[in-house]
Amino acid sequence: MGADNKLKVRACVFDAYGTLFDFAAAAGTCRDALGDKADALSILWRDKQLQYTWLRGLQGLHTDFLQVTTDALDFSLDTLGISDTALRDRLIGLYRTLDCFPEVPTVLRQLKDAGFVTAILSNGSPDMLMDAVNAAGLGDVLDHVLSVEDVGVFKPHPSVYQMAVDRVGVPASEISFQSSNAWDAHAASAFGMKVVWCNRYGQRSERLPGKPDHEITTLADLPVLLDLG
Ligand code: LAC
Repeated sequence: MGADNKLKVRACVFDAYGTLFDFAAAAGTCRDALGDKADALSILWRDKQLQYTWLRGLQGLHTDFLQVTTDALDFSLDTLGISDTALRDRLIGLYRTLDCFPEVPTVLRQLKDAGFVTAILSNGSPDMLMDAVNAAGLGDVLDHVLSVEDVGVFKPHPSVYQMAVDRVGVPASEISFQSSNAWDAHAASAFGMKVVWCNRYGQRSERLPGKPDHEITTLADLPVLLDLG
């Protein structure tokens, strides 16, 4: 890659669920109880969770991400014909302490040691994010953990990306935003951030405003985009 293609930024801001933390780990861990419904549950749960964030945003009826995640799980279990309160509680508990993807601790450490400001910008409620960060041992490599709860609306509302600019204290054009959610990547780009779409799930490009500057499939490929080894 030519030097001109490198990202010239001062801060690296990350989406949380699907980008740093593996949301499929919750249902995967309960494969003993879910059997061959584990993957279907994971997909439906995630889709429904996101739909509810967007719908609530349009309605102006915000509630926190734990409630949305729980509502989406209940819908999904119901759809799959699973009625098991203990399993439901286990899944929600696991969602709070999801595994991070294997490359994440090393990459965040490398960015921080190189002097980049590091942050999470997520729909997650502050408690959920703190639990996940602590469970993954990422507290030392993140300068900021920013929740949409501070603006009271979910992504992709522009006020969420504006909060990152305000709290990180770096202009949008000097922030590299990483997300595995294509719609989130497009929205951050439309807002004015540099964007790396970490396309872990082999998604198709969205037809939405904005355009990611780079596409990778693992965050292990991020440091080279920032001109780090
Ligand atoms: C988040 C969701 C969108 O962490 O993945 O904000």
